[in-house]
Amino acid sequence: MHSLSRLVRKYISYYIHASNAKGHGVHSPFVFNFIKSVLNDRTRYSVYDSIEKVRDQLLADSRMIDVEDFGAGSSVMKSSSRAVKNIAGSSLKSKKFAQLLYRMVAHFKPSVIVELGTSLGITTSYLASGNTTAQVYTLEGSQEISEIAVNTFSHLKIGNIILKTGAFEQTLPEVLSEISQVDFAFVDGNHRRAPTLAYLDSLLTVCNEYSVIVFDDIHWSSEMEEAWVEIISNDAVTLSIDLFFVGVVFFRKDFKAKQHFSIRF
Ligand SMILES: C[S@@+](CC[C@H](N)C(=O)[O-])C[C@H]1O[C@@H](n2cnc3c(N)ncnc32)[C@H](O)[C@@H]1O
Repeated sequence: MHSLSRLVRKYISYYIHASNAKGHGVHSPFVFNFIKSVLNDRTRYSVYDSIEKVRDQLLADSRMIDVEDFGAGSSVMKSSSRAVKNIAGSSLKSKKFAQLLYRMVAHFKPSVIVELGTSLGITTSYLASGNTTAQVYTLEGSQEISEIAVNTFSHLKIGNIILKTGAFEQTLPEVLSEISQVDFAFVDGNHRRAPTLAYLDSLLTVCNEYSVIVFDDIHWSSEMEEAWVEIISNDAVTLSIDLFFVGVVFFRKDFKAKQHFSIRF
């Protein structure tokens, strides 16, 4: 169930109960610093404009492409014809959250980044630009969407991205077998409980104490809320931050006890 009224009720409750955006009353120095240096950094970094220009072009692109839908078990259920501009308008992370991901990467400086769900490559471009010495692996199921993402990367002259096309169930194990660690992951595709938890389990095999995983749309549906509750209860997770439209988890062992924060963003 992901009705709009349920989402609005959830957002109001989050807004009322979340810690304020200045970090008052947040007694974790790590989280306080994250709020101050990452969440509240209002600098207009130069890459923002160049990536947003490409987003604008995609939002005006009327080309029709064939898009595969991934159903249960990630088998291709059916393909449908969609305008690029409709995908750009509905599937991509907003500017606000894509730029937050850029700042998180610039702050934590991960060497290996994995994104599940490339779509047209806009958020991938932010991730890759946050640390140009990082290697970004991004996974997308749909062939024609992947081709547009490749154009996005070459247009922006971004060279540190490897795009794998195919169902996550195939491409994620392939990528994880090629690399020995994942320092930062953004899980933004197949927003259902069981697959999301399976992606967490797979990522955990290569995560370390300093890895960071961001899950998209944790309140989008009851299923995703259940997944989020299970994610933050996982023994490996020592700190979790709910920003409503995304959830962030950390595995550091230097925190005294497991902590959870909801922060207004
Ligand atoms: C929400 S979009 C990603 C948006 C992108 N991260 C951004 O913010 O710009 C999710 C993408 O994941 C892909 N996807 C969903 N489930 C998948 C699966 N099981 N295997 C492969 N790709 C999948 C879809 O084709 C879609 O393009």
